[in-house]
Amino acid sequence: MTILVTGATGMVGRHVVAELVNTGHRVRALTRTPSAANLPDGVEVVGGDLTDPRSLEPSLHGVERMYLFPVGRTARDVVAAAERAGVRRVVVLSGALADTDLSEDGYLAVERAVEESGLEWTHVRPGEFAANWLDWAPAIKEARVVRRPYRAAVTQPTHEADIAAVAARVLVEDGHAGRTYTFAGPEALTAAAQVDAIGAAIGATVRFDDLDPAQARAEWIGNGYPEAFVDWIFAMWAESARNPTPTNQEWADVVPQLTGRPARTFAQWATDHAADFR
Ligand SMILES: NC(=O)c1ccc[n+]([C@@H]2O[C@H](COP(=O)([O-])OP(=O)(O)OC[C@H]3O[C@@H](n4cnc5c(N)ncnc54)[C@H](OP(=O)(O)O)[C@@H]3O)[C@@H](O)[C@H]2O)c1
Repeated sequence: MTILVTGATGMVGRHVVAELVNTGHRVRALTRTPSAANLPDGVEVVGGDLTDPRSLEPSLHGVERMYLFPVGRTARDVVAAAERAGVRRVVVLSGALADTDLSEDGYLAVERAVEESGLEWTHVRPGEFAANWLDWAPAIKEARVVRRPYRAAVTQPTHEADIAAVAARVLVEDGHAGRTYTFAGPEALTAAAQVDAIGAAIGATVRFDDLDPAQARAEWIGNGYPEAFVDWIFAMWAESARNPTPTNQEWADVVPQLTGRPARTFAQWATDHAADFR
């Protein structure tokens, strides 16, 4: 059985590839730039672009199962091409907040495309990626500082390796067809606690510089973040700083239930990425 991993060079995709290779599966990896893929030996690397469904034909040949990195605009044609090529099962990388995302190019478009196909599907909906913190790596490296508003905002960060472990499990194991798994990491933590965990992982004190939300908003937009995204995430942080949510245990239980291993903590994530912050 050949499993096609799209988004294979990504944060989650690399771990999906590793999980599948380590459990003895035959993996084909899709990338737009095969020469730069740098994937493990034994992985068949194939070129193709999810925004150009016709370019996927060589990568789909002989594939039975597929991990689908979400590109909403072309999802319907990508899924149709997969179905024509004989793919039977698709696991979609979606997001915990998929239901609030109504954009043409969002997760829901991808979820709907597979639901309306004849394929067996499973949606993997992780919450906030711990890896979002890599955005702060340059400032931590240079000045041991994070400049941000809402230090008390609580989130439940998810290790990319756990997202991949869930995806790999439902790709290879039966019994997950038509299921949507919404999940997150093992505990809710304030932004300040997350910064402290990164400090502990690198053996340094990392200062949390509280930014005024209005000033931060202007900076983020100036740095190229879309205004709607900044307003959405700041509103979420403001609300959770005012009214801190406890750990969502239902979400926290999914990784151990599906993989048989404890979910990786944020401290573990920070240790795994210490080199990015030193
Ligand atoms: N950040 C969060 O908190 C969060 C939460 C829930 C869900 N998500 C979702 O998770 C996804 C990100 O996953 P990730 O971190 O694994 O992604 P990533 O690190 O950004 O990597 C995505 C990979 O997909 C490939 N790719 C991108 N566009 C492509 C295209 N048109 N055709 C073929 N390949 C393409 C790229 O590979 P090549 O360059 O090699 O082609 C890239 O390495 C996003 O959809 C995001 O919205 C994120």
